Amino acid sequence: MTTPIDLRSDTVTLPSPEMRAAMAAAPVGDDQYGEDPTTNRLQEEVAALLGKEAALWMPSGTMANQVALRVLTRPGDDVIVSRESHAVWHETGGSAANAGVQLTEIGARGVFSAAEFVAAVKPRDHGIYPPTTLVEIENTHNRAGGVVFAQDEAERICAAARERGIARFLDGARIWNAAVATGLGVDRLAAPFDMVAVSFSKGLGAPGGSLLAGSRDLIARALRHRRMLGGAMRQVGIFAAAALHGIEHHLAGLAEDQTPVLLVHGTPIFESAVICEYLDECFIPRLHPTDALTRARHRSWIEFGSQLLNGIGAFYSAPDAARLEAERVALAARFAQVEAVLGAGPFFAGSAFSIVDATFAPVFRYFDVFDRIADFGIFEGLPRVCAWRKALASRPSVRRAVDPRYPELLIGFLERRGSALSQRMAAAVA
Ligand SMILES: Cc1ncc(COP(=O)(O)O)c(C=O)c1O
Repeated sequence: MTTPIDLRSDTVTLPSPEMRAAMAAAPVGDDQYGEDPTTNRLQEEVAALLGKEAALWMPSGTMANQVALRVLTRPGDDVIVSRESHAVWHETGGSAANAGVQLTEIGARGVFSAAEFVAAVKPRDHGIYPPTTLVEIENTHNRAGGVVFAQDEAERICAAARERGIARFLDGARIWNAAVATGLGVDRLAAPFDMVAVSFSKGLGAPGGSLLAGSRDLIARALRHRRMLGGAMRQVGIFAAAALHGIEHHLAGLAEDQTPVLLVHGTPIFESAVICEYLDECFIPRLHPTDALTRARHRSWIEFGSQLLNGIGAFYSAPDAARLEAERVALAARFAQVEAVLGAGPFFAGSAFSIVDATFAPVFRYFDVFDRIADFGIFEGLPRVCAWRKALASRPSVRRAVDPRYPELLIGFLERRGSALSQRMAAAVA
């Protein structure tokens, strides 16, 4: 049996057997009477972690965000948010329907500066403008690929907001990841904000639940709005137990996630494709060609390289010999397509190293290990691909890109995979 890893989202994480046991054993009561001991414990512990006076359990991150809007604004107000924020894209227009506010998107790639914020603020008591009464920051930012908001900029924005009597809200559904990436405590990340929403159903692995934290007064108001939205529940300690388990046992694991991170003047940027695009825009020589058509063609081959990685995954995960052979043939066919477009080399586009090369170098690295297992003949009759592979492998940056133990670690992973390839490796040793 193989266990596929679903990388679509951190929300598809499943509760572990230990988390389920904690849920089953949780002491519970009626939370609408304030009598659920596990929920009360979670609220107190997380409020303390976030450095806030109080916190209120919410069934979902979306409801936490919606309740915060109800508490901190009035209908007709203007709320400044980051471009492509969760509030704009993923709450089905709830901010307009529930709080009656309009959202003004500013900045780029999930972040904005204090100067951009100040420029976007619409004054109160103006005959025409909707008054800006709230600024919302999303940290980390979902649609921007997990970008972390620079804390000093968040502090400047919140200081400018405070001066203007504008409330501050942090959509910190993934504040845990931001804390790991920055090394700052969640209390420091939450400090400049009046209210903060955090979620347990993402990287912490709980089946549901978020918390909204803030002053006692704001949380008392949030209680009413949660009820209005139908989010008041009864023996909710079963969920709270999962959240407590996630905090106690899974927080440390977030630091071990293998997401590539680039720190730019203290601001981390996640995911290799995003990092490459950023480097390409900021540094000379550019890794992408300047001609738009050639650039588009390169992007297609980068996408092709990503699909090859899926093909490699299917190859080493194939459950039986017939499937392994089918995946081997599919890989060979894909490399034959690459052979047809390659020039004289040494790199994809000739003499210059490009992002296509950066994409294919890790693809070929797998085959250096597969070659130790057997001759799968995938590159037979493909001299240009072979020459390209050799040129990439000899490049110092490619060699230095991974831990020197990479081959042994991959061999160990393949042996434990329980796949047809694992069986073949075991047979070769026996
Ligand atoms: C930044 C952010 N805020 C809020 C939410 C909403 O959480 P939920 O799915 O629990 O409603 C999400 C969900 O992915 C999110 O990414």
